[in-house]
Amino acid sequence: MRRLVRETVLEPSDFVLPLFVCPGEGVRREIGAMPGNYQLSIDELVKECQEAQSLALGGVILFGIPESKDETASGAYDEHGIVQEAVRALKREVPELLVITDVCNCEYTSHGHCGKIVDGDVDNDATLEWLASGAVSHAKAGADIVAPSDMMDGRVAAIRGALDEAGFSNTPILSYAAKYASVFYGPFREAAESAPQFGDRRSYQMDPANVREAIREISLDVHEGADIIMVKPAMPYLDVIRAACERFQLPVAAYQVSGEFSMIVAAAQNGWLDRERAMMESLTSIRRAGAEIILTYFAKDAARFLGA
Ligand code: PBG
Repeated sequence: MRRLVRETVLEPSDFVLPLFVCPGEGVRREIGAMPGNYQLSIDELVKECQEAQSLALGGVILFGIPESKDETASGAYDEHGIVQEAVRALKREVPELLVITDVCNCEYTSHGHCGKIVDGDVDNDATLEWLASGAVSHAKAGADIVAPSDMMDGRVAAIRGALDEAGFSNTPILSYAAKYASVFYGPFREAAESAPQFGDRRSYQMDPANVREAIREISLDVHEGADIIMVKPAMPYLDVIRAACERFQLPVAAYQVSGEFSMIVAAAQNGWLDRERAMMESLTSIRRAGAEIILTYFAKDAARFLGA
């Protein structure tokens, strides 16, 4: 009877699994603060994605850890960069799997910021060019969706324009439209080796105290041509997800970020929480708030749970 009257139902296809790809072969390096998540070389990534496909996940989103980082984030838009090569391999080996690429510079800059540094600060407009060529290089490699996560103003329009010009007018943009300057990204920065070397990201990410500002940020992205909008993190921002759903007639995604995952896993390891129930309750609440798409490190486990 409960099933008959249940308002919120989850399916494996609601989930997108974030994956970290690194150079080398046979590499499967566990991320300390994110048990069960790995830095994967392309061959291992392919195996992981075959599993994702067999679990009928909605897709994967790729983050790259380049061989070397520099001032100009050259790995981010190199046609033969780590993510670009990974996408090519996936489209060859697991062609049916939906592949989203994260478009950002922080994993590729020596200073760990998401953009070009001019006079000690991130220069918004100078960064747009890197983002646009990064997105085009991903689309060329075969990415199904590009997902800018940098929070520079005007990047959706810049990326849309560059994609169209390069012949990728059918490649959608999933924009990290309301991305907060959150402490919950901590474990990710270990995973992606992208902690800023000075300062923080508060000049380009949002103040956790604001929800009306999120609506303004999202509507800018919508007008610039975003196809899917995302709120990030998820659980501390359920009200923002709800507001976005009510306001915009576009699919809404939410990112259950690394810290949200690690908190649950750590508590479970200590015997303080039931891992499975905490996982499903958190995902249900994000879906109930209105998100159609959930990016989560629990994607495989949750899909297995639902199939069980
Ligand atoms: C890149 C990016 C970050 C995350 C996704 N894309 C890190 C950041 O902004 O510092 C965080 C994801 C997570 O914590 O799981 N800009």
